[in-house]
Order: sequence, then structure tokens, then C-alpha cells
Amino acid sequence: MNEFVLACHNLHKHFQEAELHVEVLQDLEFNVKPKEQVAIIGSSGSGKSTLLHLLGGLDEPSQGEIWVAGKQINQLNQAKRGLWRNRHLGFVYQFHHLLPEFTALENVCMPLLIRGMPPKTAQNQASDLLVEVGLGDRLKHKPSELSGGERQRTAIARALVTEPKCVLADEPTGNLDRQTAERVYEIMLALNQKIGTSLVLVTHDQNLAKKMDRTLQLVDGRLKVL
Ligand SMILES: Nc1ncnc2c1ncn2[C@@H]1O[C@H](COP(=O)(O)OP(=O)(O)O)[C@@H](O)[C@H]1O
Ligand SMILES: [Mg+2]
Repeated sequence: MNEFVLACHNLHKHFQEAELHVEVLQDLEFNVKPKEQVAIIGSSGSGKSTLLHLLGGLDEPSQGEIWVAGKQINQLNQAKRGLWRNRHLGFVYQFHHLLPEFTALENVCMPLLIRGMPPKTAQNQASDLLVEVGLGDRLKHKPSELSGGERQRTAIARALVTEPKCVLADEPTGNLDRQTAERVYEIMLALNQKIGTSLVLVTHDQNLAKKMDRTLQLVDGRLKVL
């Protein structure tokens, strides 16, 4: 599993709610090589977000192994898993999840400060990246003072500022208009390539998926090669 930045083996996930037993993922196999860009498509409710949560260590599998940067994270306790995740992965969600009371710059600084980087260095690194996503003149703006596309670009900068091994993105342009979505997407792909970060992107947009190295479809709890 060491040649992959991210991998899972024999992955199962079910949810039990009262009488209802929902099998979401069944014996799923998946791996991502360094710098690889993989799209995951699938109908609504097929388990795409569940898969991304498991791969990112935000939820625990019912069965199976999950490997991030050479370590089996599902055997770590929650605190250690959190540290490993912060060190090696970045996340971009459909809704930006930026902290509302902080500026764009402060939001992007946050993951670096959590890692113990001196504030001045963190600020420089964060503002460089915000300039790269075209937000050099929005550093002091709070999320409520940014447009939808600007918020997602801030969220992308926040995910990439730590130069993670892999970014997990769950329909990051899902609530943007088509033109804005395309621009945000181009910026994300270019930046991933530049930093050398792998990308796992959940999208319902087949045109976007085609621009990635490969596309997989989540059906009946497994990933099918397209
Ligand atoms: N925390 C949960 N508890 C119970 N069922 C859940 C939970 N999270 C997801 N599910 C169910 O798992 C299935 C897959 O959900 P999800 O991963 O969000 O799908 P997708 O992202 O592909 O639309 C759905 O049927 C959903 O209702
Ligand atoms: Mg989803």
C-alpha cells in the first residue's frame, strides 16, 4: 500500500437506523497514485459522500482497511487519525465551510497555525496561495463579503495550503453556476498539478470528469471503471 497516497481494501459501510439496514459500500477496492486525478461519479444516494468521509478518516468503516500516506488510518485512535489527516489530506466540500467570523486570509492560515507554523510565515504562505487563486484583493474579506465562486476558491486555497498528498473534493462546484464552476474547477486542477497533489473529485458533471486521469462510477456499493 506504500506506493499509493490513498487506498482502501475490502471496504464495507452500512448504516443501521431503527429497523432499517442500509448497505452503502460493499467490498470496495480503490487506490490513488501520487499526482493522480480521479473522478468519482454516481447517482444521488449511491454513497459518494460516505466513501469520501471514510477515505478522509471522518467516519469509520463497518469493515475493511483504509490507507493514507502509507498508514492504515482505521486502526488509529481518533486523535491520531485527526493528526494524520491534517498532515496529509485536504478537503473541499460542496458548501465552503469557511469560518464566518474570520477573513479569507485567516481561514487559509488556519491549517498552518494548527500545525504550529509561526503566524508570519503562515500568513505569507496563505496570501501567496490566495493570490494564485485570483483573490489577492480579497484577503481581508469575510466569507459573507465574497461571491460563491470566491468562497470556493478560498476553500480550495485552504485545502491546498498545507501541500497535502491528496485532496478530497465532494461536488465542490455543485452549487455554482456553470461558468463560475468551470473557472473554479480549472483553478483547482492547475493548482493540484503545480503542487503535485493527488485529487479525488466527486462530481455529477461528466464533462468535468472527462478532464481527469480516470473516472470511476459508484454503483451497488462498488467502483466501476468507466
Ligand atoms: N449518517 C447516516 N445515517 C444513515 N444513513 C446514512 C447516513 N449517511 C448516509 N446515509 C445513507 O447512505 C446512502 C448514501 O449516502 P451518500 O453517501 O450521502 O450518497 P451520495 O453522496 O452519493 O449522494 C444514502 O442512502 C443515505 O441515506
Ligand atoms: Mg453526496
